[in-house]
Amino acid sequence: MAILVTGAAGFIGGNFALDWLAQSDETVINLDKLTYAGNLDTLKSLQNDARHVFIKGDIGDSILVAKLLEEYRPRAVVNFAAESHVDRSIVGPSDFIQTNIVGTFNLLESVRGYWISLSDEDKADFRFLHVSTDEVYGTLAAGDQPFSETNTYQPNSPYSASKAASDHLVRAWHHTYGLPVLTTNCSNNYGPYHFPEKLIPLVILNAIAGKPLPIYGDGQQIRDWLYVKDHCSAIRRVLAVGVVGETYNVGGWNEKTNLEVVQTICQLLDELRPKQKGRYAEQITFVQDRLGHDRRYAIDARKLERELGWKPTETFESGIRKTVEWYLSHSEWISNVTSGAYRSWLSQQYGE
Ligand code: NAD
Ligand code: DAU
Repeated sequence: MAILVTGAAGFIGGNFALDWLAQSDETVINLDKLTYAGNLDTLKSLQNDARHVFIKGDIGDSILVAKLLEEYRPRAVVNFAAESHVDRSIVGPSDFIQTNIVGTFNLLESVRGYWISLSDEDKADFRFLHVSTDEVYGTLAAGDQPFSETNTYQPNSPYSASKAASDHLVRAWHHTYGLPVLTTNCSNNYGPYHFPEKLIPLVILNAIAGKPLPIYGDGQQIRDWLYVKDHCSAIRRVLAVGVVGETYNVGGWNEKTNLEVVQTICQLLDELRPKQKGRYAEQITFVQDRLGHDRRYAIDARKLERELGWKPTETFESGIRKTVEWYLSHSEWISNVTSGAYRSWLSQQYGE
């Protein structure tokens, strides 16, 4: 038995592959294009493990994907592959349209061709799980209810619009062709192997390097943080017992302002790696706001709890401590990931 996992050299897909193989002997076929965000260092522990098969390639490459499906005959596809960084989507949306929309379309078509060829029993058991985001729902005001699965889609950034489009394609491939799909819409993840262009790892690494900690605008934007291992367990749960055609919101019940998040990281670093002089919070710098910056995201994850029995296990306090400790003890992974291409992004985005 095997599952095809796309984008499993990235942050969440990598954690998913590691967790999957820690609990199961079912092979993971990992299809990843290795963009700047893909990093095989994350999967180093699987290097000589026959249960992990890595294939460098694009989800949009129909010939390659058809060949893989034919060869490995997976019982499920879990689609993590995407361009995922909002700031990059503002600077250059083209890759987001290509991978998140056109790539998902091509993947769906390849998978449909394979699925049709299966026996009735295998067809019924097959699943296509699409990993999406809470950003498709747009932004919330302070007193609004958290996003539930019935909220309308109101994406505001090129990234979230491209993810929304992909969700619609997935839905349509189920409605029209009967492809057995599941969709998850998750809030902000954090944890090990997070690429340091995103807020939490960027702030940890900048702090210990003595650099400014850039906070966009007034820092009062709210995100709902979920420890990545909890997201992975939610996906495993949905894959195992989710109802075909349904969508499930995944979140941590951890709404924090960006300023609170950064201050918490600074306090943990003050404790775990104190500076010779002063405190890390002195490095906080308010910088120009993100264009079209969504003010607040919050997820109502009660459907997943009520119907599939999933709940997050980490609080923000326990998860962020683990995360800071992980970054302090994985200097080799960090130095590999913060090489050339990453530095040019920092200079373009922050003028470093
Ligand atoms: P990431 O940017 O860390 O990793 C994406 C991976 O996809 C990389 O390994 C990259 O090489 C690969 N990839 C990109 N384009 C590809 C293509 N055309 N073909 C094959 N592989 C390709 O992203 P992430 O943070 O791990 O997010 C994974 C998924 O989860 C995305 O779909 C994202 O929208 C969704 N998501 C992320 C978060 C979050 O907080 N990070 C929250 C909710 C949902
Ligand atoms: O909500 C889920 C989404 O979370 C995922 O779909 C995306 O793939 C993922 O990247 C993440 O998007 P965000 O834009 O919320 O994450 P990011 O870490 O880029 O930013 C978190 C918040 O911090 C956001 O309000 C912008 C702010 N920020 C970010 C950076 C990089 C700063 O204030 N300063 C920064 O330097």
